[in-house]
Amino acid sequence: MALDKSYQKVPGTTIFDAEQSAKGYHLNQFCMSLMKAENRERFLADQRAYLDEWPMSEEQKQAVLDRDLNECIRLGGNIYFLAKWGATLGLSFQQMAGSMTGMSEEDYRDLMLHGGRAIEGNRIADQERADESQPAQPQADPMGDAVKAAAAGADQQAPEQHAQITGAVFTSHVPAIGVALDFGKDEEPYWKRVFDGYEFSKAWEQENLPDVIFLVYNDHATAFDLSIIPTFVLGTGESYPAADEGYGPRPVPGIEGDPELAAHIAHSLIREDFDLTLVNEMTVDHGLTVPLSLMFGQVDKWPCKVIPFHVNVVQYPVPSGARCFKLGQALRRAIESYDRPIKVQVWSTGGMSHQLQGPRAGLINREWDNQFLDRLIEDPAGLSQTPHLEYVEEAGSEGIEMVMWFIARGAMSDIDGTGEIEVDHRFYHVPASNTAVGHLILSDHPHEKE
Ligand code: DHB
Ligand code: FE
Repeated sequence: MALDKSYQKVPGTTIFDAEQSAKGYHLNQFCMSLMKAENRERFLADQRAYLDEWPMSEEQKQAVLDRDLNECIRLGGNIYFLAKWGATLGLSFQQMAGSMTGMSEEDYRDLMLHGGRAIEGNRIADQERADESQPAQPQADPMGDAVKAAAAGADQQAPEQHAQITGAVFTSHVPAIGVALDFGKDEEPYWKRVFDGYEFSKAWEQENLPDVIFLVYNDHATAFDLSIIPTFVLGTGESYPAADEGYGPRPVPGIEGDPELAAHIAHSLIREDFDLTLVNEMTVDHGLTVPLSLMFGQVDKWPCKVIPFHVNVVQYPVPSGARCFKLGQALRRAIESYDRPIKVQVWSTGGMSHQLQGPRAGLINREWDNQFLDRLIEDPAGLSQTPHLEYVEEAGSEGIEMVMWFIARGAMSDIDGTGEIEVDHRFYHVPASNTAVGHLILSDHPHEKE
């Protein structure tokens, strides 16, 4: 399934999508900086010097200096961001829009006064007719061949090469596990019992190292405070540093993202009606870094790219397991339609039973946890129907983190019937801090295609 980017065919129009956004990231952020009066002053005093403070391409800087808005848009700028720069120069939206049409300011104002540009002659078919009548005209193409091929739509043959989901990892992400590792307590009996359960996992990762991990976790009031509470966050940025959660950042590397695959996933999931928040800059907390430490040990650099995916399980209402399960299935379609031959693992973190608040703190329910693991393997669709109340009552208030496990489970090939899973590893242990540690590794084995 190629992505439908047919909007690229609309004449004289550039749609600002995740791909354009990645291209124009620093150009647009430069524009945003002009929201501050002191920055406007500095920019106007020496435009070149101010632009040189931004990691923009020379082409982008020149387009700004030339006041060439068409070029700015081609290079990833978006009109609402560019408008901050225009306002700094004293330009109205009408002046800015008119400057991109090749008309004089007066003629454009006149055009608008007389009812605006007519739709006749400005439809896709009109553009196609114009292209046919002038065949060998090479067009300036800001989007590149790969995207154009994708834009050709679903009637195109599926690409030979595509990304493959090779396995799923499920694990608790208790912060004290990170502290134990960082302070060399992993040989102490209390912690050794936990880390022993991950010896197999570290060897498994060495043998099955993916190119990218799609890592589902929840931020714990670290990157997102109460000023913004997104339900699903997809990290489309280049990199994310490890957070300072109040006791200094963990001595672990930050993660390198995969903006191109993330943009592809964003496009695919949002087109399937999942309302994602796309985040290019944030820090990542123990929810994400502790699982990486458990699976890779102490390293100077994580051995693959990581796309962070945050699910709100802090403030109710939180998404249901069933919704997460559907999201996982859509995620599989997204990843499999990416036409690069890369290997992807999907990890889901959090859980198992734990309660970090109130007189019931310390609650652990071994039986419920183990049934959850059994049914996650054998009956994930049925298990995903578990109501929120049951998590809270049976697995403790913070046990709700387990709804996230349905994302990785939904992404496995046995769910859409195209393959089988194998349980490569299963581990359960009580306690780590306040929590029951649960851990599963499922490998994914798609059926041979005929
Ligand atoms: C603990 C567990 C968590 O999942 C978490 O996010 C914070 C603390 C704990 O057991 O201490
Ligand atoms: Fe947690």
